[in-house]
Amino acid sequence: MGDGNREAIEAWNTVLFDKFVQFRRVLTTGLGIHGTRAMDLHPPREGARVVDIGCGFGDTTIELGRRVGPRGHATGVDAASRFIDSARTEARGRENVSFEVADVEASVPGGPYELAFSRMGTMFFSSPVFALRNIRKSLAPDGRLCMVVWRKREANECMHAAELVVRELLGDPPKNDQVTCGPGPFSMASPDLVSDQLVAAGYRDIAFERSDAPIEIGADIEEAIRFALTLGPAGEVMRLAGDAAVARRREIESALRDVLAPFERDGAVRAPSSTWIVTARPA
Ligand SMILES: C[S@@+](CC[C@H](N)C(=O)[O-])C[C@H]1O[C@@H](n2cnc3c(N)ncnc32)[C@H](O)[C@@H]1O
Repeated sequence: MGDGNREAIEAWNTVLFDKFVQFRRVLTTGLGIHGTRAMDLHPPREGARVVDIGCGFGDTTIELGRRVGPRGHATGVDAASRFIDSARTEARGRENVSFEVADVEASVPGGPYELAFSRMGTMFFSSPVFALRNIRKSLAPDGRLCMVVWRKREANECMHAAELVVRELLGDPPKNDQVTCGPGPFSMASPDLVSDQLVAAGYRDIAFERSDAPIEIGADIEEAIRFALTLGPAGEVMRLAGDAAVARRREIESALRDVLAPFERDGAVRAPSSTWIVTARPA
């Protein structure tokens, strides 16, 4: 397995990496609250070996390394080498943190791990059961999975409000030969679906805890508009629409300004976000 992810991995290594660099502050500090909550609720043991799935820039891996201490180790795994290059540079000098390029749908390097953690790194697999099974195989028998995934799009106005505006004006542009990240950020929003996937992948004791938090999507309304038109489903519609999006950009921005204005407080734009913190153990 793993070949089905080739296009998504190319997307993460190219257009999506560039977008994430541009909005890194919003992504890691804003959305980061859900990951911090997950680590606080399900902390790794001091001295534990842990793996961070789809680690991106590796800030969560570094934090896991801090929490397990010098006797433990945190391994960040990501399919996109540009994220791993960036993470390695930032973690330089930290002896208990390391990074590997790997498509977890093919295999998870290293192990056995006491904890497989992920902040929004498990929602983009072409075959989620294969990937979840590989993660389970990398766990010690008494290990556990703790992953943060988006809840339904309607609960995430930080992205959904923009998606509605953009789809109304641009429709559903054809993908043609452009790369995309596959199933998309809301692919694990349904507890029914995800608990079935986890059972099929060999897990038990499956639990879903809801995490709600307003997050800052822009230090001002202009940054919020740029964020909304670059990332998430709205960003993807804009990218795939190409020239049509460029031609209607002013109109789209104006509609978005109206939609985002109610979320503006003291200049900054803060909109609701909601995730599941999913935990499970090997069966
Ligand atoms: C939404 S980003 C989250 C990054 C990071 N965990 C964070 O919270 O900032 C999803 C990450 O998953 C990685 N990813 C996607 N598919 C993957 C796969 N099959 N195997 C490993 N990593 C993958 C992407 O390269 C990307 O870095």
